[in-house]
Amino acid sequence: MADIAKEDDILGRARVRDTPELEAYYEDLAKQETGALWTVANSIEPWQPTPTSAPVLWRWEDLRPQVLRAIDLVRPEDAGRRVVYLRNPKRKEVSAACGWLFSGIQTMKAGERAGAHRHAASALRFIMEGTGAYTVVEGHKMSLGAKDFVLTPNGTWHEHGIEEDGSTCLWQDGLDIPLTNALEANFYEVHPDDYQTTNLPLDDSPATYGSPALMPELDKWDQPYSPLLKFRWDQTYEALQAYARVTDGSPYDGVIMRYINPKTGADPMLTMGANMQLLRASEHTKAHRHTGNIIYQVAKGEGYSVIGGKRFDWKEKDIFCVPPWTWHEHCNTQGGDDACLFSFHDLPTMRKLGFYAEQALEDNGGHQVVTG
Ligand SMILES: [Fe+2]
Ligand SMILES: [Fe+2]
Repeated sequence: MADIAKEDDILGRARVRDTPELEAYYEDLAKQETGALWTVANSIEPWQPTPTSAPVLWRWEDLRPQVLRAIDLVRPEDAGRRVVYLRNPKRKEVSAACGWLFSGIQTMKAGERAGAHRHAASALRFIMEGTGAYTVVEGHKMSLGAKDFVLTPNGTWHEHGIEEDGSTCLWQDGLDIPLTNALEANFYEVHPDDYQTTNLPLDDSPATYGSPALMPELDKWDQPYSPLLKFRWDQTYEALQAYARVTDGSPYDGVIMRYINPKTGADPMLTMGANMQLLRASEHTKAHRHTGNIIYQVAKGEGYSVIGGKRFDWKEKDIFCVPPWTWHEHCNTQGGDDACLFSFHDLPTMRKLGFYAEQALEDNGGHQVVTG
């Protein structure tokens, strides 16, 4: 990598010194809403990605009571969605948890129901606690338990609620609202009838498309997103355990699997993807960095991650983020049990645009020096 301090010596980098004539020239250009590229080239064309987000860990023990406070303060029908969002200190202006990704913790109590709506941003949710939660996507109603993962792909009508005999539920909502807004492509619409009406049986999507390696012969699915809208935790964990028996896994992520559209094998939605990874007892991965924003939620166990040289200790339900092109490695500190990390990210967008890049840390045996 080139050294920024030596830019003056590099042909192809801007190195024009100001003179009175040039300053007068720049003023005249500005009057005509123009500018000289060489005055901004070095900042708009960095040598490598320069993430604006900070690595952050949000502790569940701090988050949970604050989210539950909202139950007595606002009703879902007034708030639209009763969500406390995670605000990266460096991304306040776009309400992002990391880069171009939004994350929030939503809570609803038994019998509550939020109105149906749709938006151009893609959304997903990872259930954290409670019973009786459901999501309806384009008429497909899905019952949701802890650690289940559910999609609400972009442009689809969706609504959430808790059955009368359920309990207070909390889940993480992940959306690419900041990305969609950055592209100035967002739409938001509320359902004309407030709620969807459906004759489809409960859990028809996982019943039809959720069996490993089997596809119905009568499949007529023609949408650009996955026909499987709900991914069950028990199936996911079972798959990881089975895979762990026959693989060393990734040096950077342990035993990692990707949620997919079972029909195509591709990511389940166009812009966002998600993974579940298993770190074996005492496993400490090596460090790498890549483009794309990642938001992790601890699904099981405890340990720590070193992100940009700083150690973040985590336990179940904590959430943390890894900004683009930032070194990261994970460690399961439990000697006798595995740990699992759920994550969602914008890698499908990065890959489709040809922006995916990855680098392994070579120094220090592949581990970062912890500085904080
Ligand atoms: Fe939504
Ligand atoms: Fe990574």
